[in-house]
Amino acid sequence: MAKKELITKVWIEEGCIVCDACETAAPDVFEVTEDSCIIRPDALNVEFAKPRSVEIVDAAEECPVDVIKFESETVEVADDAAAEPAAASADAPVAEAKKTAPAEPKKATPAKAPAASSKSKAPSAGEPDPSIQALLEAATSRGGHAGIMKNADDMPASTQDWKAADPKSLPPDARQAKVVEAAQKAKKQSELHRRDFVSNSALAIGWTAFGVGTGISVGPAFGRFMMPNVLEEPDPRIRVGKMDKYLEMVPGGVNEDYKPQGIWMIREEDRIAALNIICTHLGCIPNWLPNDRKFKCPCHGSGYYPDGINFEGPTPRPLERFRIAIKDGIVVVDKSKKYQYELGQWDQPGSFILV
Ligand code: FES
Repeated sequence: MAKKELITKVWIEEGCIVCDACETAAPDVFEVTEDSCIIRPDALNVEFAKPRSVEIVDAAEECPVDVIKFESETVEVADDAAAEPAAASADAPVAEAKKTAPAEPKKATPAKAPAASSKSKAPSAGEPDPSIQALLEAATSRGGHAGIMKNADDMPASTQDWKAADPKSLPPDARQAKVVEAAQKAKKQSELHRRDFVSNSALAIGWTAFGVGTGISVGPAFGRFMMPNVLEEPDPRIRVGKMDKYLEMVPGGVNEDYKPQGIWMIREEDRIAALNIICTHLGCIPNWLPNDRKFKCPCHGSGYYPDGINFEGPTPRPLERFRIAIKDGIVVVDKSKKYQYELGQWDQPGSFILV
């Protein structure tokens, strides 16, 4: 006989930030209300909770402020039943919990493989944005980078204290600031790596040119590497695929394929548009909750309808939209130009494509 852990009791401690993550992971067990989160009455029954052990462990893991707790008991089961996912101890570390309860964690939809382009000036096919990657990682894994950042020696003592604090003990705004800081750091590192690569490549090409006596033929390439234009900001234009796939979407639909590039593609009755995924409150990244038909920010609970209009939480305004156009049959999003609803800009040409 094999052994298996089953959850016998689940509860929520103080400090819930009403982010919806638990209800998404275990909708039978948790109910998020306007200003709180509760255990559904059925889930207080041990026999109801046991078969939902895996979902409860998932919910505890997804909780950004670690307020979901549970108790479990070990039972003996037939060997084939033991192969089914089981719950882990409430005190076990997250990694250990996942080992015992091997349900896949929820992740953002991965980007589709970028299409190759032979034109150097063509818009990018959608390389993940490093700062967006850092925000996503930090916002979905209990502080992520933000929670483990090291202190720098030359920082003021007050900042040192703040950075040394456990993110869970900080007010929401400070947690969010850590997330943004980690994102900015990741972006800087990405640029530095790019510069190192360019510099080393130029050096190698230079020596090759001297060695084989073909300086003239490699001159243009050498010059290209040495010119400062290699340090320009990445092209803000992202190719997001053919129009066909957006025509197939139903009105109110959301496409998350380009979330790693910072874009949600949305379909409305007569148009498509590109939403900026950055929360307009303080810059976190909301989650798309398809069952609730809304975007929900995990930092302070702001909620947005599928078209980006805000309707709950502290955010003062809707999500922004990017410029969008069709070029050579491909939909291209230009992140350098944004349109704001509250300024009446969502009716401007360029903020949508009619379908
Ligand atoms: Fe505060 Fe999104 S950053 S609600």
